[in-house]
Amino acid sequence: MADLHIQINRDEGGIAGQIASELRESIRGGRLTPGTRLPATRDLATDLQVSRGVVVEAYEQLVAEGFLVSKVGVGTQVTPKATARTATRPKASPRPEPGHSNAAPVCGPYYGHRPTSPDLSHFPRERWLASVRHVLTTVPSDALDYGDPGGVPELREELAGYLRRVRAADVRPENLVIVGGVAQGLSLVLHVLGRRRPLRLAVEDPTSHRQVPLLRRAGAHLVPVPVDEEGLDVRRLSGDAVVVTPAHQYPTGVVLSPPRRAALMEWAYAGDRTILEDDYDAEFRFDRDPVGCLQGLAPDRVILSGSVSKAMAPGLRLGWVAAPPDLAEAVRRARGELDLGSPVIEQYALAHFLRTGGYDKHLRRMRRKYRRRRDALVTALAEELPEVRVKGIDAGLHVYLELPDGWDELRTTRAAQELGLSTEPVGPMRESPGPAAVVVGFARLPAHKAAEAVRGLKVRMSGQNVD
Ligand SMILES: Cc1ncc(COP(=O)(O)O)c(C=O)c1O
Repeated sequence: MADLHIQINRDEGGIAGQIASELRESIRGGRLTPGTRLPATRDLATDLQVSRGVVVEAYEQLVAEGFLVSKVGVGTQVTPKATARTATRPKASPRPEPGHSNAAPVCGPYYGHRPTSPDLSHFPRERWLASVRHVLTTVPSDALDYGDPGGVPELREELAGYLRRVRAADVRPENLVIVGGVAQGLSLVLHVLGRRRPLRLAVEDPTSHRQVPLLRRAGAHLVPVPVDEEGLDVRRLSGDAVVVTPAHQYPTGVVLSPPRRAALMEWAYAGDRTILEDDYDAEFRFDRDPVGCLQGLAPDRVILSGSVSKAMAPGLRLGWVAAPPDLAEAVRRARGELDLGSPVIEQYALAHFLRTGGYDKHLRRMRRKYRRRRDALVTALAEELPEVRVKGIDAGLHVYLELPDGWDELRTTRAAQELGLSTEPVGPMRESPGPAAVVVGFARLPAHKAAEAVRGLKVRMSGQNVD
């Protein structure tokens, strides 16, 4: 059994966090080796003169992070070698995605995934664990039964307040349905609207190629409408409804201009038309004041879909739809028929996380981090590759790069991916032809790696016309 030297500062508070942090550093630094058995919680609590619950919390945190394992009859030990580190650290060598070369990425292995994905190594594990713990120790057993398919009331209450405060939305809890993310929210809304009449749905061109099959599967007939420097070209809109990304268009990154916002409202009110607002990354806005959502301007015409995917983690699969009450009720019923609703423990945990300020705090921290990363990437591009036109940098987690003459989208994408950059070609997202372009996510690209990555891209692309 290890005799531990743990220093805590009683004036600082957060004793469980301090203990966890000391243990984590000891494991990382090799002072505590794999397999080492830790003192029983009661003994360590006595040694440190803290309550046993505090030590339990610290151990549980490290178990959740994969540093410790706990077994009945054996106690708690440092995770043995074979399984150590898999929980919090990315593996040293990435498995290349299909079609990618095996070249070692200079930026590390873990910048893959979608260009819009957040940096998951900063998931607020401790605070989220505290929220889940709170839920598990306080909710009555009956709360774990089948929940309201529209979502648990506590979460709808908290979210309504959050969306009013942060997105200038016009919502009350009865307008909200909790769903498994923007993708599911859009599907459900389209199913409901499509029951009333076959739906001709305008979509931005270019648009996320992942969304197209989802929209079609929901029964919509898609009508592409061009996007220009001001966002969706509203004069060319047709259809019964439109799905739009006004805060940060995907993929171009354009913020819908104020005249276009007004024109879009007029279009909706001129007929019995609906705007589906995809607010996928609106929390991250760097240079200007946040633009309120469209839903706040026209709550009877706009259906707002958002999620925690970019703010916290896509894997949580938690999101919301804000709709006029009759439509919200229809979406709620559709969710009940489809799969009986979202997991309740996570919903209660998110309600607690919002209520106790964890969500705001995490967002503030990540906004600062992402802003530094974006600045580093944009600066490196300006210095090393001035011929690349960088756009869409006001908000979100990706930039849109228009490529110079002779640069091929697929080759650029492959070169960037080999360097560890999360990149996608824009061509497959277009209905009508447009300039060669790619999107590059910067959420997982540390600022000090940006210049190296961009220089690598320059070297690779400088040879592209030769072979
Ligand atoms: C533009 C856009 N909308 C919606 C989504 C889906 O988001 P969610 O995880 O909330 O379903 C994504 C995901 O990458 C996206 O890029």
